[in-house]
Amino acid sequence: MTDPAALRATVEAWRRAGESVVLVPTMGALHAGHLALVAHAKAIGRRAVVSIFVNPTQFGPNEDFARYPRDVAADLAELAGPGADAAWTPEVETMYPPGFATRIAVAGLSEGLCGSVRPGHFAGVATVVTKLLNQVRPDIALFGEKDFQQLQVIRRAVRDLDLGVEIRGVPTIREADGLALSSRNRYLDAAERAVAPRLHAVLARIAAALREGAAAAPLLAEGVAELSAAGFGPVQYLEVRDAETLAPLERVAGPARVLAAAYLGRTRLIDNVAV
Ligand code: PAJ
Repeated sequence: MTDPAALRATVEAWRRAGESVVLVPTMGALHAGHLALVAHAKAIGRRAVVSIFVNPTQFGPNEDFARYPRDVAADLAELAGPGADAAWTPEVETMYPPGFATRIAVAGLSEGLCGSVRPGHFAGVATVVTKLLNQVRPDIALFGEKDFQQLQVIRRAVRDLDLGVEIRGVPTIREADGLALSSRNRYLDAAERAVAPRLHAVLARIAAALREGAAAAPLLAEGVAELSAAGFGPVQYLEVRDAETLAPLERVAGPARVLAAAYLGRTRLIDNVAV
């Protein structure tokens, strides 16, 4: 569906029938991680809407917007599996009409981690997600823990702006060897693909040591060294943060997260695990 009026009519008919609506925002190039979100949507609500929109405003000038994988026909076929009820595939002109001038910026949570290396990225995300939420008006919207900072930024924006939707996080779906599923994994060549699971292995080992009470700094330094030796570079960050505020932690007392972003060849991978 590309027409906002058609989307509105569809969702309003569901609402009149008393059916709950769950939104899963995506940029397409759907994989089993996305499909798990859709299956979760169908498990917790009556109707699942999946949005597919490669949002230009969340890509930096030197990022992969132009080469980001796009295949809406294949995506729509994939969505039959978990039984999505509608796909919202707006055009760029629908999302950003001439004169578009508004931006949602979430201070604090958007700074650091991916925010330091992708300036403007989370404002782009928060703005497009706010629009998608207003267009679809779901009861619940689902986001993957794979993009943990994004999930926290969106929770904050929704709370701050009274968007009236419940935001839920869904655990990361991984390959058997630990690599988090990502649309960008298809950029990896065979040698890089073989090395890629080391990212999750390092995060998991650091999380286990933190749980035993170890201090963060030496673990993180070792982790960066190990990733670099394995062929990652640059390692943009490897950090331990409070799971809610994303404040840096030296030792872990409550819910925390170990998060990393690192290049493997030309491909930027991110991942995080719970402590
Ligand atoms: P995209 O990268 O397509 O991801 C869409 C949703 O799928 C996000 O909530 C993401 O966290 C989740 N996801 C991706 N890989 C996952 C995995 N391996 N396991 C579980 N969930 C996974 O994130 C975006 O798009 C965009 O920033 C968006 C929110 C759509 C705004 O443009």
